[in-house]
This record gives sequence, structure tokens and C-alpha cells, in this order.
Amino acid sequence: MGEVGASSSKHHMIGGDGPNSYARNSAYQKELLVSAEDLVRELISKHVDTDLETFRIADLGCSVGPNAFLAVDNIIAAVEERCGAHVPEFQVFFNDLIGNDFNTLFKLLPPSRNYLAAAAPGSFHGRLFPRGSIHLAHCSTALHWLSAAPEKPNKGRIHYSGAGKDVRDAYRAQYERDMDAFLSARGLELVPGGLVLLLLIGFPDGYLLASDSSIGHAFHTLGSCLYEMAKMGKIGEEEVDSFNLPFYYPSRTEVEAVIVANGVFDVERVAEMGAPMRRDPDAASVVSHMRAVVGVLVEERFGSGIVEQVFELHLNKLLERPILDHTHHKETIYFLFLKRKAFS
Ligand SMILES: C[S@@+](CC[C@H](N)C(=O)[O-])C[C@H]1O[C@@H](n2cnc3c(N)ncnc32)[C@H](O)[C@@H]1O
Repeated sequence: MGEVGASSSKHHMIGGDGPNSYARNSAYQKELLVSAEDLVRELISKHVDTDLETFRIADLGCSVGPNAFLAVDNIIAAVEERCGAHVPEFQVFFNDLIGNDFNTLFKLLPPSRNYLAAAAPGSFHGRLFPRGSIHLAHCSTALHWLSAAPEKPNKGRIHYSGAGKDVRDAYRAQYERDMDAFLSARGLELVPGGLVLLLLIGFPDGYLLASDSSIGHAFHTLGSCLYEMAKMGKIGEEEVDSFNLPFYYPSRTEVEAVIVANGVFDVERVAEMGAPMRRDPDAASVVSHMRAVVGVLVEERFGSGIVEQVFELHLNKLLERPILDHTHHKETIYFLFLKRKAFS
């Protein structure tokens, strides 16, 4: 069967529903899901079989919600519309890494939902479900998470943004391996003709993610806070040098090349959604979002003792210097709709 939910990684979002939680700091991801609703409806109406008794959906990298429920509701509404009088029963598997706060996720489940819910903990880079059992796999703004950050010395930085070619190449190679593993696992788990719906954060071809983009700037600022903590003697400088964030933002060409080389799926549709949040966020919400996403990684590497101070420093830096406005949102959101080729 291959590795089940294979990953040594423990990283995940901040759980619960407190002020730093992902549940309260995921408006950006929600806007993406809303902007994809019409496309999801259109494609499901063309590609879903109408004679099924049970329709199984997997939401991969669901985090703590409420976005997971929104995505699922939209998919189910589209399948219902497509199936008319013969509506199947729906079963939804919520997947995330084992450290995800599944308790909070399930406490937030809408009481009046029209599906049966289950958890599927583990890494989506490995197997999660039996062969040929899933009809639609959905994964939104999660595939930029690598299974591991490249172990390349990266002095002065915590990401490939602004780094040299060797560091960028190591990130890209890791991304290609991870995406290929993701597709191969889904290839086994989906029924023939099964569907994969992806929302990915990427950058245009040839764009070198730099500090003039909001993502590059955010990582650069977080890196400078960690180096400042090292100067204060709170953490070791070498520890920061060897700390790389496990995120890669591919171009459309890179994603399509991995899908074609993997060979299991036909690409039915690719659309560029543009970047959401075309208004300027305030410094506090930028830091809250960053903390919800990378707080656990910082804690894992440097210990819980410094997290509060790191993000306080981060906020002060953003308040001192003008924050990058929405014109620096250089990322593109790719919507991909894939169809499992028939088993040979
Ligand atoms: C930015 S959140 C997106 C959550 C949700 N899909 C949404 O649209 O709001 C990314 C999620 O992917 C999860 N994730 C990252 N790597 C993963 C992996 N290898 N397997 C499963 N989940 C993963 C993270 O733990 C996190 O909860």
C-alpha cells in the first residue's frame, strides 16, 4: 500500500477558536473559496455521475474550519443540483496532519448538515483512503506546504524568497517530489473518473519571489525578528540559519508539468483567480494571520518561550515601517480541476 499518511512533520495551524487560532484568522482563504464557487458548480455539473448511491468527498488539509464546511457545502450543493431527484448519500472525510485540532473542528460541525463526517488524519503526501473509494478530493490553499523544508544552509533568511539559486532549486525539487506523491496517492484512492479540485497559491512564471511581494516581505520580516532574538541571546544564530519555512509557491507551468509527468490525471480546467484581499489589511491582522500559520513551526524549532516576543517584535516592525499595501499582492491563485484517468 505504500506509506500511510507518510510524514514526520508535526506542523499544523493554531487550533481552538481563540484570537490567534486559524479558525479566526482565515478570511483570506475564505475569500478564495467563495470566488471559486461558480467554477465548482459548472464543472461538477459536467463531470459527476448521476447514478451513485454514495458520494465520498475528502477535504485535504482542512485545518480547523469554518472554511472546510463552506467548501464541502458548496460541493454538495453542486452535486445535488446535478443529480436532481436521485441524490446520493454524502460522506465527508476531513483530513489534516495528526496535530490538527480535530476536536475543535468537529465541535464546529454545522448541526443541520446533510453529510456523514469522519476524520482522516495523516499527511496527504501519502495514502489516506482505500483504493477506488473517493469520488472527489478537494484541497484548498494547503499544497504549498512541503513535507519538509530543504536542509540547505540559508544564512540571513528563513525561506527561498530572496535566496540564491541553489536554495530555490532545493525548494522546487522538494515541491515536485511532494506534489508527485500527492497525485500518486490520490490516483489510487479515487474511483475511475474521480475528481480533484485544487486551489493553489502560486506566482507567475519566472517571478523570483522577493521582498517586494507581500509574502516575501512577511517572511523577510519574520526572519529579521528571529535574528534580532538571536542578537539578544534568546536563541542561537545558527539555529536561525538552519531554519527554513516549508512553503513553496509554484508557477502554473511548474504545477502542470508535475501533473503531466505523474500521468494519472487529465487536467480538465485551469483558471487564474487573481489574488484576494485587494484591500489593505492592518498590521495586527497581518501578524495574527502569520502567527496562526507559522506560530507552531516557530514554537517547534525554538520553544514556546519565545513565540509571544517574536510576534510582538513582528507587530512593532510593521507599525514602525509602512506596511506593504495590496499592490504588493503578487501571488496568483490557481484553480485546477483534474479527472482521474480510467484504470488501465
Ligand atoms: C492554510 S491552511 C488551509 C485550510 C483550509 N483548507 C482553508 O482553505 O482554509 C493549510 C492546512 O494544510 C494542512 N497541511 C499542511 N501539510 C499537510 C499535509 N502534508 N497533509 C495534510 N494536511 C496538511 C495544514 O496543517 C493546514 O491546516
